[in-house]
Amino acid sequence: MDENSTVLQLHDYQIHFGTLGPELVDLVSPYGKIFVLVDDNTRLHCLPVLQVCLQNTKLHILEIDSGEQHKNLDTCQRLWKEMFALRSDRSSLLINLGGGVIGDMGGFVASTYMRGIDFVQIPTTLLSQVDASVGGKLGVDFNGLKNSVGLFRNPLAVFINPEFLQTLPAQEVRSGYAEVIKHALIQDVAAWKKIQKITDLEAVSWQEIIHESVAIKHQIVREDPHELGLRKLLNFGHTIGHAIESVFLESSKPLLHGEAIAIGMICESYISAAKGKIDEEELTQVTAYLCTIFGSPAIDPVDYDEFIIRMQGDKKNTAGMINFTLLEKPGKGLINQTADEELIKASLDYYHRLSIV
Ligand SMILES: NC(=O)c1ccc[n+]([C@@H]2O[C@H](COP(=O)([O-])OP(=O)(O)OC[C@H]3O[C@@H](n4cnc5c(N)ncnc54)[C@H](O)[C@@H]3O)[C@@H](O)[C@H]2O)c1
Ligand SMILES: [Zn+2]
Repeated sequence: MDENSTVLQLHDYQIHFGTLGPELVDLVSPYGKIFVLVDDNTRLHCLPVLQVCLQNTKLHILEIDSGEQHKNLDTCQRLWKEMFALRSDRSSLLINLGGGVIGDMGGFVASTYMRGIDFVQIPTTLLSQVDASVGGKLGVDFNGLKNSVGLFRNPLAVFINPEFLQTLPAQEVRSGYAEVIKHALIQDVAAWKKIQKITDLEAVSWQEIIHESVAIKHQIVREDPHELGLRKLLNFGHTIGHAIESVFLESSKPLLHGEAIAIGMICESYISAAKGKIDEEELTQVTAYLCTIFGSPAIDPVDYDEFIIRMQGDKKNTAGMINFTLLEKPGKGLINQTADEELIKASLDYYHRLSIV
């Protein structure tokens, strides 16, 4: 094993951190046909690295166009057809080499092909390394709803190589970093103290940060694999963040997921403070750090009602109340909280005031 490699042993599979090496070679060797799913970007930037590692293995490349708009059943059908055309059987393996779109859809394609073949996740974006690669959620967008068709299933293994981030656009790295901040804020005060020292994302040595962040997510999903309770901690920042993301998606200046979630985390921290959970100083600290990393893209008060309509449509709500995960304190999330419209608007105003100074 490479001296810089580390492993997180889960109950039924391993997550390897570091340069791709002999563990991957050994893992794929018993399989018949080996497929690699890439998109146009990961074919260019990431596939050559995998090919060096698996140089003595015949790889069948499956390529799709990059982008969330291709995460659908039409693309799955094309992939299943390609696999049938190559007479692939249940001894085949699918390696998903890409971001969350490739991982979610490739895992779904593998899990349903002939009732399920094994698959390996090699996430290549920061978001997919710290978030999508852990927790077993697979699927595609359907009927206008994100991730509405899919299943839970674990991969054979996950290989997280931070070197892939070198070719990832800086804005995508920053977007993924929102989930790193979220993991620290909901579960790990030591991690929160540590990451606040990071102000330049281009100077970060990622492996340790990613390992710690994955360990936090893993700890949460292990206790609640099917999102019945504790896993809701991961929704911090996402009730307001998703609403903002979806409204901005229809505008001329869409936000990346993590950029919207950063705004959501500021607003939901405000709500936490207003409800007497975190104190003023902690709110200021969380707000200041998120603004250091993400700036403060403007939101327009004209959109507040539309944001609230989207929040009301969130499938996580119960009894007509908008469901929030708030902060008890930095490093400790609090699930199943609510806030009325007035407080939600006050939180949006708090953020709005930051974005106009
Ligand atoms: N399963 C889960 O638990 C879970 C959790 C969070 C998000 N997701 C899903 O993940 C998806 C978003 O993931 P994402 O942000 O990784 O998006 P993505 O897969 O679309 O990747 C973002 C962009 O980066 C490119 N790219 C990927 N790796 C690269 C590299 N190393 N160098 C250069 N370019 C590279 C991709 O081609 C794409 O253009 C969404 O569909 C979301 O629903 C799933
Ligand atoms: Zn997210």
